[in-house]
Amino acid sequence: MIMKPTVKIFKNLETLSLFVAEEFLRNVKSAADRKKPFTVALAGGSTPETLYRDIARLSEKQEIPWDMVHFFWGDERCVPPDSSESNFGMANNLMLSKLAIPEDNIHRIHGEEEPPGETERYAQVLQMNVPVVQNGIPQMDWVFLGMGSDGHTASLFPESDVVQIRDKFCAVSQHPESGQKRITLTLPVLNNASRVSFLIAGDSKSQITEKILQDPSAAEKYPAAMVQPQTGQLEWFIDRDAAVRLPM
Ligand code: 6PG
Repeated sequence: MIMKPTVKIFKNLETLSLFVAEEFLRNVKSAADRKKPFTVALAGGSTPETLYRDIARLSEKQEIPWDMVHFFWGDERCVPPDSSESNFGMANNLMLSKLAIPEDNIHRIHGEEEPPGETERYAQVLQMNVPVVQNGIPQMDWVFLGMGSDGHTASLFPESDVVQIRDKFCAVSQHPESGQKRITLTLPVLNNASRVSFLIAGDSKSQITEKILQDPSAAEKYPAAMVQPQTGQLEWFIDRDAAVRLPM
């Protein structure tokens, strides 16, 4: 890890998620006050579930200008949207379906389509719906990411060629164990974001978290360590179990 991220350690996933949910809603409202659309890429996996539930719950009691928010995904499994494996399905069930978000503002990756064609389509979706561009690359306001215990993030897996892609916004990837096809944003898009927040919880992540945050050479091997936004803010929100090996 070359650039120094902001590291915030929380007692548990519940306090981590509540903090991020409040921060997210604050940012959405201030962007709307400035009459600016807010673009966010959601993370998949299980860690963000609590966050999505909290965003839905907290926004019940507030006026949130959802018409100004556009949702994207960092990656998607190549499964139908109603599959229990779908990252869209998870976020939709826990959050999106409970919010007054215009359908046109939800830009899911079509996991049910042929992967190569879908990466082309989704690259177009990004270009047409992310208004801010920096170095010719769509600049998301906020990207949420998780991390596997092998140091993968989104569907960028260690030693995969997809990690090297610099001339595309999306790519077809494959889970190294299950072989499941994935569609993922590439590092150029992740590293172009204005803000990138890792959500990390559980002792199974403690070893890889220590490696990435303590070992400068981690960025040679682990895709999560290669996420170093050019100009944006990088944050690692970690619960105590995942932070147990970090120097306090
Ligand atoms: C996915 C995610 C993936 C996830 C990590 C962590 O599609 O699964 O994009 O990168 O964030 O595997 O998953 P957990 O949060 O379930 O540990």
